Amino acid sequence: MREEHRQTLVHTARDMLARLDNNTIDLAPDILSLAASLYSDQSRFEQENMQLFRRVPLMLAASCELPEPGHYKALEVAGVPVLLVRSADGQARAFLNSCTHRGSQLAEGCGKAARFTCPYHGWTFNNTGQLLGVASQASYGDVNKAELGLVSLPALESAGLIWVVLNPASTLDIHSFLHGVDGLLAGFDLEHWQPYHQCTLPGANWKLAFDAHMDFYHLPVLHRDTFGPTISNLAQYYFHGPHQRLGLMSANSVEQDGLHSLRGLPEQEWPTNALLFGEWIVFPNVSLNCFVAGERIMVISQVIPGDTPDSSLTIQTYLTENKPDADSEPKVRELVDFIQRVVGEEDLPMSRKQQVALSSGLLPQVQFGRNEVGLQTYYHWLEQALAAADDAELNQLFSAAEPLSA
Ligand code: FES
Ligand SMILES: [Fe+2]
Repeated sequence: MREEHRQTLVHTARDMLARLDNNTIDLAPDILSLAASLYSDQSRFEQENMQLFRRVPLMLAASCELPEPGHYKALEVAGVPVLLVRSADGQARAFLNSCTHRGSQLAEGCGKAARFTCPYHGWTFNNTGQLLGVASQASYGDVNKAELGLVSLPALESAGLIWVVLNPASTLDIHSFLHGVDGLLAGFDLEHWQPYHQCTLPGANWKLAFDAHMDFYHLPVLHRDTFGPTISNLAQYYFHGPHQRLGLMSANSVEQDGLHSLRGLPEQEWPTNALLFGEWIVFPNVSLNCFVAGERIMVISQVIPGDTPDSSLTIQTYLTENKPDADSEPKVRELVDFIQRVVGEEDLPMSRKQQVALSSGLLPQVQFGRNEVGLQTYYHWLEQALAAADDAELNQLFSAAEPLSA
């Protein structure tokens, strides 16, 4: 990783260690109240799909899900069917997963293919999106194949992750949106990891499902039977543009990489693994959380809005740094089952219970405490991104160090 990024991580670790000693976190100046309709209103939901999910870069896959030329992954986000492919030249590309004849989807799930044959009338495309063949061309009529390639979506692969903008005409600057967070995440070297497991878990409104990832306040209460009642409920938040990192303010059984192991070591010897400790939030809907259980395990959670304001899907992708062997496999499996249970049986059922009350319209507001400064900041970015008139304003927003004032 680049020296400037290492220095940022060292600075954060130094700050975390000092905070662990005196158990202090930065607090927001005030408690924040937001309208509860945020989680149930249909027009707000549509605005989020169009103004957020269809405009800002979304982290849609880990590079190791498409390890070789020909690998593809199809998924649907905010009403857009997306086809991610690794082309013959090794580049990750994104297309609308839609045949240019009459729109049929070309692929589902994941796999490897040299070309895509449309399941409807049989047109074929290669994995750089070119139209190769029109079925029964003689009777179909003349086609300018160069004009009927797949609709290409802007994509960027960095730090072993793939970002896509669901707008072919986007002028958004993905680098300024990332604000260097990809340079920090590069420390994980994720392009050399491998997929271990993937699952999809249903939840309520996507923000209810996602904001639990930025909330450590609930850990010892909701997760008293899994993480235990003595886990700290304090997070120190570090901001990188709209993205953030959470450090848990105590050592405990779920501490990922032993920040304490840095004590007594000169800073230039601090290992990158320990410097990356904590949870990473990639705006607007992805969290990355690294655990150690037999192997280093990365849990990537993508929260995708459902078809209605009160539903979402959380896609959990588990990567391991090394392929588990006979010794590590049971520990990896146990951790994966544990995280799946915590989110699937504790967090997401909670989101569905919140949803019923919020959708009733009888609770006017929800509250975010001074300790929940990460959530307060996240919602501020969200409002700013929704309010931006166009990509030019979004570029201005994301290239500024702080969210522009309203
Ligand atoms: S819709 Fe694809 S070949 Fe007709
Ligand atoms: Fe939780």
